[in-house]
Amino acid sequence: MDTPFDVLQVDPDASDEVIDRAYRRRVLETHPDQGGSAEEFQRVRRAYERIKSGEKRAMLEEGWESPTPDPEAATNGEAKTESADTDDGDEDNGDDERDEPEAGVDGKRVEFLNYDVLSDHGWSLDDDDLFEKASEADLAPEDYGRVLVKPRESLLEAAEERGFTWPYSCRGGACANCAVAVVEGEMEMPAGQILTPEFIDQGIRLSCISAPTTDEAKVVFNVKHLPGLDELRLPPRQFDGPQAND
Ligand code: FES
Repeated sequence: MDTPFDVLQVDPDASDEVIDRAYRRRVLETHPDQGGSAEEFQRVRRAYERIKSGEKRAMLEEGWESPTPDPEAATNGEAKTESADTDDGDEDNGDDERDEPEAGVDGKRVEFLNYDVLSDHGWSLDDDDLFEKASEADLAPEDYGRVLVKPRESLLEAAEERGFTWPYSCRGGACANCAVAVVEGEMEMPAGQILTPEFIDQGIRLSCISAPTTDEAKVVFNVKHLPGLDELRLPPRQFDGPQAND
């Protein structure tokens, strides 16, 4: 039986960087739009998740069975949030402080806005004062707020770390479900992903493999339905694991 390392075609002793690179290569190779299949693609994604979960030893000793997808991990494309620290319910709920990142912690601050709320308010991605309007609109914490992206963290990981559930599927730059529009600041993204140069020029980034390079940035997440971008997305119905399913 193939181990997750076989599936990613890496040595079990490979560094995280090599594994990440191999994963990005394999998700592109197995992407249904690149001649692969949904089954292959899911296999690669699960292999990567197993490796990243730190179960190396057990996998090597026991072989590998695909785990049952965790329904709790599935995203619904609505960017809902369940605060990771809602233990007492009377503080740190984001209403007053907008989930202000901890002061003094090393990282880049990213102000985010959910694309889904733009049409409700008659706003556009091109509005110069988009984030000013958002800051005054009493939006829900999952729709507007701030996250701190720590070193070596992707924007998607940072959002999840704060308890937000942003859309994603492959987590490897191959599906565009996690796309965000960078309105201010810079976000670095490795080559070898699915976005066209035109989208990159427009400030579109894939949050699963991107991280800010400026101390402050503003992004609109959940932009997967933008014209042209929607066609790059993997049809979620092809997959049975965590995904954006709208
Ligand atoms: S989740 Fe697929 S490109 Fe980011």
